[in-house]
Amino acid sequence: MDTLRIALLGAGTVGSGFVKLLGEQRDRFRALGLEPALTGILVRDPSKKRPSWIPRGLLSDDVGRMLAEADVVVELMGGTKTAKRLTLAALGEGLPVISANKALLAEHWSELKPYVLEGLLYYEASVMAGTPVIEPLSGALRGNNALEIHGILNGSTNYIIGRMEEGLDFSQALAEAQAKGFVEEDPFLDIGGVDAAHKLAILARLTVDPDYPWRDVRENTRGIQELARDHIYAAESEGKKIRLVASLFPQGGSWKTAVRPVMLPASHPLAGAALSHNALLYRGDAVGDVLISGGGAGSTVTASAVIGDLLRMLEGYPGHPPLPAAIPAPSYQTEVFEEI
Ligand code: HSE
Repeated sequence: MDTLRIALLGAGTVGSGFVKLLGEQRDRFRALGLEPALTGILVRDPSKKRPSWIPRGLLSDDVGRMLAEADVVVELMGGTKTAKRLTLAALGEGLPVISANKALLAEHWSELKPYVLEGLLYYEASVMAGTPVIEPLSGALRGNNALEIHGILNGSTNYIIGRMEEGLDFSQALAEAQAKGFVEEDPFLDIGGVDAAHKLAILARLTVDPDYPWRDVRENTRGIQELARDHIYAAESEGKKIRLVASLFPQGGSWKTAVRPVMLPASHPLAGAALSHNALLYRGDAVGDVLISGGGAGSTVTASAVIGDLLRMLEGYPGHPPLPAAIPAPSYQTEVFEEI
């Protein structure tokens, strides 16, 4: 049996989940004639306490050797500096990269795009974790022109809101979300709406414009920093739920985005996503409404999509292509949300 040599960058929440699942799903790889083996695990602090299933002997800072020996790179370190340098180095060598790095994809798309077009970059795990949205948006749903999309794309803020509905205050709910491994190293990325904005930029390039600019998404982003339990009780008294919703919609002849907390009727399809779950409501001109919903953050919840991408790659599928060309923004009455 041949060996599939994997360089793993990062052994945090998702990286640890990946190592665990790789062991559990070994037979899926063997069925394809391959025995998966890590060439090393790049970590910032080798002395940090890690789960028992992380082989300490593989922790390494010799990333040059790890990449030289690898058939594929799995980038789960996050951030946009070292991750960008190593991802571009690997892609430049022709190595496929499986990435969960939504910040890198959103903010440095122009540098990554040539490799995405070559099919070298796989990124299902970057949006809605293991709940598939990248694949349907780059495949089956391409038979439509998108009219608008609305999503709950951040697990941490949805978890925080859900726990506040149950009586916790903001800081208690945030601390719980952090303990569960949902929150980014810099919590502002989550509570400031930036993580949801990163994910929305990725979705925009799959659905309406392959070059949708990050700057435009960032400029129209508000988070939940000001959210208090009083807002939640006031919404509840009207039969509504507060959610951080990320939207892409046509307005005045161009595509616009918005990330902001809104009040949804409790019966709204997006209001059903509870705690760390995410949901995407896709509205297409041919298919109508499609709702995709499921786990949106967490260790193996996210790592499962990384394993899925690896298996797709081994079966010969290229990484996820953006839309080949922008589609015009239609004249269409979009759904209006009540912002808070
Ligand atoms: N911090 C992210 C979230 C992790 O809460 O959704 C998953 O991308």
